[in-house]
Amino acid sequence: MGLNRLVISMEDLVRRTVGPGIVTEIVTAGGLWTTLCDANQIENALLNLAINARDAMPDGGRLTIETSNTRLDDAYAASQGGEVKPGQYVALCVSDTGSGMSPDVIARAFDPFFTTKPLGQGTGLGLSMIYGFVKQSGGHVRIYSEIGQGTSVKLYLPRHAGEAETDVPEHDLGEAPRAETARTVLVVDDEPVVRMLILDVLEELGYGAVEAGDGPSGLKALQTSQKIDLLITDVGLPGGMNGRQLADAARLLKPDLRVLFITGYAENAAVGNGRMDVGMEVMSKPFAMDALASKLNGMLSG
Ligand SMILES: Nc1ncnc2c1ncn2[C@@H]1O[C@H](COP(=O)(O)OP(=O)(O)OP(=O)(O)O)[C@@H](O)[C@H]1O
Ligand SMILES: [Mg+2]
Repeated sequence: MGLNRLVISMEDLVRRTVGPGIVTEIVTAGGLWTTLCDANQIENALLNLAINARDAMPDGGRLTIETSNTRLDDAYAASQGGEVKPGQYVALCVSDTGSGMSPDVIARAFDPFFTTKPLGQGTGLGLSMIYGFVKQSGGHVRIYSEIGQGTSVKLYLPRHAGEAETDVPEHDLGEAPRAETARTVLVVDDEPVVRMLILDVLEELGYGAVEAGDGPSGLKALQTSQKIDLLITDVGLPGGMNGRQLADAARLLKPDLRVLFITGYAENAAVGNGRMDVGMEVMSKPFAMDALASKLNGMLSG
């Protein structure tokens, strides 16, 4: 089971569940090991953890979902009172910047029906179900929390002694044309996962890359780095400036800057329905990574 793929496939649902007041960030490890744990149970656990995080951040905050390869050594296993075997684990860590938990609450959090939520809001089963599933799978779960700072819940799922996950949709760029000369591309997208995918392609093609999460930071990058040849930007961006506005402002700074817009279906109108200025092109989501590679080489050659 590929945990990265599972996490990424849940991203939309998690975002909708926690709502717009909470910034969700997903950090997937490269070369992540696989686990045989049941995918439905992991999805269920992730959703429960996201809901707990949301409840702990009524005034908003940051939710981080992170995967990693982890080795638990003998000393750590001993410190857990024999609750877990030393060895290799695939870890899923869900962190929030919410209210945090007191040591008392942490001690009881996995008990069935333990809840601090008002009657009708929590049954106190979320963490106890997660605990049951993880233990049954031969894994381990830990809570790290500080009052007023936030909480991390980390699930350790036993590694399956198979191949590493062929990572987040593997794009075979063997045939794709490679960069001719060192060029630098600025990637602006509010989704870290999308930026990561595009940066992977750029790196494989031999392009330099700079990234930003919204229009104003993208503009700042353009002002400080003279070397940027091409801007790849999502059209829908947070921060009060959409991709089209960013491109227009960027071209005032750098008139020969080439621009590639990435749009969802509904956003085509925002970039002019295909009638583009010279040096501006559009790609609609979703697209294949080798199509992106050809597009970039086409735009940057000459
Ligand atoms: N991320 C978190 N931040 C702060 N407290 C938490 C967090 N996650 C769990 N808790 C505490 O642990 C308790 C138990 O959590 P658990 O998920 O088992 O039950 P619940 O969320 O109260 O109810 P249910 O999950 O059944 O709707 C919560 O009531 C809360 O006090
Ligand atoms: Mg819960």
